[in-house]
Amino acid sequence: PPTAKINVAIDGPAGAGKSTVARKVAETLGYIYVDTGAMYRTVTLKALREGADLDDAKALAGLAERTDIRLVPEPGGQKVIMDGEDVTEPIRTKEVTSFVSKVAAVPDIRNVLVRLQRDIADRRGVVMDGRDIGTNVLPDAEVKVFMTASVRIRAERRWLELKEKDPEATVEGLMEAIAARDKSDSERATSPLKQADDAVLLDTSHLTADEAAERIVRLCRQALEV
Ligand code: DC
Repeated sequence: PPTAKINVAIDGPAGAGKSTVARKVAETLGYIYVDTGAMYRTVTLKALREGADLDDAKALAGLAERTDIRLVPEPGGQKVIMDGEDVTEPIRTKEVTSFVSKVAAVPDIRNVLVRLQRDIADRRGVVMDGRDIGTNVLPDAEVKVFMTASVRIRAERRWLELKEKDPEATVEGLMEAIAARDKSDSERATSPLKQADDAVLLDTSHLTADEAAERIVRLCRQALEV
């Protein structure tokens, strides 16, 4: 039927441009954008604030269980609300960024957040980005994209975003941090970052966000026609 909506899974490493591109795709299709990385960041922020033991998987899972996370769509982005507080900015700090891989590696935390992500996707018409969306969260998504870009290009993009907030950031330093995060995200035991067999590989090293979004929208239109 022409009114059918599909789900779109966009995975890939940090800095490949997933969130910018996913947001544009959602906007074009009138779909809902879901940033799953923001959910892992929210749990990490709460754990840091509560001084939770990051090696205590059980305590962390309990903490995730009793955290109310809401993603509120907004023109040009989304707001992240944790237990009623707007944490859109605080989840992007360097501190949260440096601990989130560790928190995201805890299987019980992933279970809690994956359940939430599947509930959201049940409504259909979502563009969800993350690391394990096509492989694990939404294996039946009609369109799956694995976005990559070279480590240098990803570091350069991050640097452009960061340079005002953090004048000490360097491309070389960011390259190291990105490579380290890639390694821990792809080598962890639970839901490692990996391209799904049926995902389309999209290297954005030499594409603008608009060009990348256009390619994904085209895939979506093809999927909607069949
Ligand atoms: O995309 P991001 O940088 O906001 O993601 C933050 C962290 O969360 C990153 O280390 C990978 C992890 N993550 C994950 O394990 N699974 C997801 N679906 C999304 C993010």
